[in-house]
Amino acid sequence: MSLQNQTEFKLKNQIAICHGDALNFYSSWRTPTVIVADGPYGVKGFPGDPSTPDSLDKWYEPHIAAWARLSTPQTTLWFWNTEIGWAKVHPILEKYGWRYRTCHIWDKGIGHVAGNANTKSLRKLPVVTEVCVQYVKDPIFSIDGRNASMKEWLRYEWQRSGLPLTLTNEACGVKDAATRKYFTQSDLWYFPPADAFEKLVNYANTKGQRKGAPYFSLDGKRAMTGEEWTRMRAKFYCPFGVTNVWNHPPVNGDERMKNGQKAMHLNQKPLKLTRLIIETTSDKGDVVWEPFGGLCTAAVAALELDRKCDAAEITHEVFQQAVARIEMITRTPKLNLQ
Ligand SMILES: C[S@@+](CC[C@H](N)C(=O)[O-])C[C@H]1O[C@@H](n2cnc3c(N)ncnc32)[C@H](O)[C@@H]1O
Repeated sequence: MSLQNQTEFKLKNQIAICHGDALNFYSSWRTPTVIVADGPYGVKGFPGDPSTPDSLDKWYEPHIAAWARLSTPQTTLWFWNTEIGWAKVHPILEKYGWRYRTCHIWDKGIGHVAGNANTKSLRKLPVVTEVCVQYVKDPIFSIDGRNASMKEWLRYEWQRSGLPLTLTNEACGVKDAATRKYFTQSDLWYFPPADAFEKLVNYANTKGQRKGAPYFSLDGKRAMTGEEWTRMRAKFYCPFGVTNVWNHPPVNGDERMKNGQKAMHLNQKPLKLTRLIIETTSDKGDVVWEPFGGLCTAAVAALELDRKCDAAEITHEVFQQAVARIEMITRTPKLNLQ
């Protein structure tokens, strides 16, 4: 098929880019470990971007609902926007169960074009930032038919076994760290790692009262394994020396995709930042979603990092440019295509 009429691009099992509204594709995409959402900012930046951030909440709501429905507790959502755009959308993200983790500030530096703004007329300081906000999707447990958090459920299951909470220390082979960290009701609660969880499960199910077993079970038939427990929260691999402030210039030089002298897309995101968010929250082989593809920087980073990517772009010309970019990248010999 000629690129002119093409509506989908596939690179083996690794990358799929669809032309059209992302809302039409979510249900056919593979389960995401990472969602990189870099859509409208309410600045009239591209066709379809509203002229103000006022209606962004309504614009994003069907997307956010679909992301929530099709994600798992292992999924991290990275939501790019302006500060005010994010503020408008945050309540909707919370409404659909996305839990705020951290707001990362991309500081583009004074070299950014906005740094030359006519601040006397604008009557405000130049804006040289965007935000990239990390959200996770907590699992919802059930206690007597009501929804409960992981922290509540853990404590409830232990107490159901009839054992005193102090014995959680003996179960884990520690002096007092288990009650203090894993069973506290305060904000200082820690997620028990898989080995500690398995010890707690084993202890409760062998020493707890027979009636009521199995404890720490989701189906009432068998207790969860340590591995299943690990899958109940989003992946996170902390990079050394990186904070929530990212000093990085706007995309320039060879990385900037151009049509002659002109930038192909004003919103092209830096590969370095895109790699960072993908690497910290996924493993090789995992699936990244890029619903608002643009030049599909997340798909490029996914390729380089041996992840898979399902992406969409609504404007046909931009879709074609993204496809051409991926095809160019595949000619790089070091890539390990699956
Ligand atoms: C901010 S740009 C993304 C830039 C991209 N991160 C990059 O590095 O090139 C947003 C893109 O989303 C596209 N878009 C807007 N609404 C969309 C929708 N409903 N479905 C798919 N793409 C959409 C726009 O055409 C635009 O190219």
